[in-house]
Amino acid sequence: MKLINIAIDGPAGAGKSTVAKKVASALSYLYIDTGAMYRAITWKALQEKADLNNGEQLGQLLESTKIRLVPDEKGTEVFVDDEEVSAAIRQNEVTRNVSIVAAHEKVREQMVEAQRELASRKGAVLDGRDIGTAVLPDAEVKVFLTASVEERAKRRYEEEIQKGMDSKLDAVIEEIRRRDQLDSTRLISPLTKAEDAEEIDTTQLSIEKVVQQICRLVEERV
Ligand code: C5P
Repeated sequence: MKLINIAIDGPAGAGKSTVAKKVASALSYLYIDTGAMYRAITWKALQEKADLNNGEQLGQLLESTKIRLVPDEKGTEVFVDDEEVSAAIRQNEVTRNVSIVAAHEKVREQMVEAQRELASRKGAVLDGRDIGTAVLPDAEVKVFLTASVEERAKRRYEEEIQKGMDSKLDAVIEEIRRRDQLDSTRLISPLTKAEDAEEIDTTQLSIEKVVQQICRLVEERV
């Protein structure tokens, strides 16, 4: 069967990573969590006490940083300069700052190049904000996942509670709104639906139904 690339974009907490992992596993494709890459450089910038508003400095920091995504049975293990940071990059401090770091051109240029390289052999599912519009405008399948902000916040809150994190629903709603606002209004490749992406509103849909819909789109293209 022909290998293709699948782009899954959408706002925070729309279920992109859960769905992308399942689609990748159903097709034996590679799952690439591009948000984890932006989180990884944000984590490093915070460690180094870098100025998060200085794109030039962050670009240099990224040039000298090794970020690795290693697929495992849960999804992806993330390494920064050989240190395992999979849990650390999900902490609130990183979540609060990642959209500021991700807005810089010098950061995005390098990330987009690395993501294209990872997807160059095809057979990849990438989730993020700009995959269908900027990273892989030629992806054979493009999906834009949405859900109401309340539903997205509820899912994220339940996920965090399950992980044992000290989470508050109101704070999660606030954080998701703020991050969506920053991601969709930044100058360089803002979060937006690609014209040729299939929009799926997941508010009332089970994960399995969404996965099935995407697998059907894939069947039509291979
Ligand atoms: O997907 P996740 O919520 O982990 O992404 C974290 C942040 O990384 C997003 O809020 C966004 O600022 C940034 N991001 C991005 N482009 C991508 C993926 C993520 O700007 N392709």
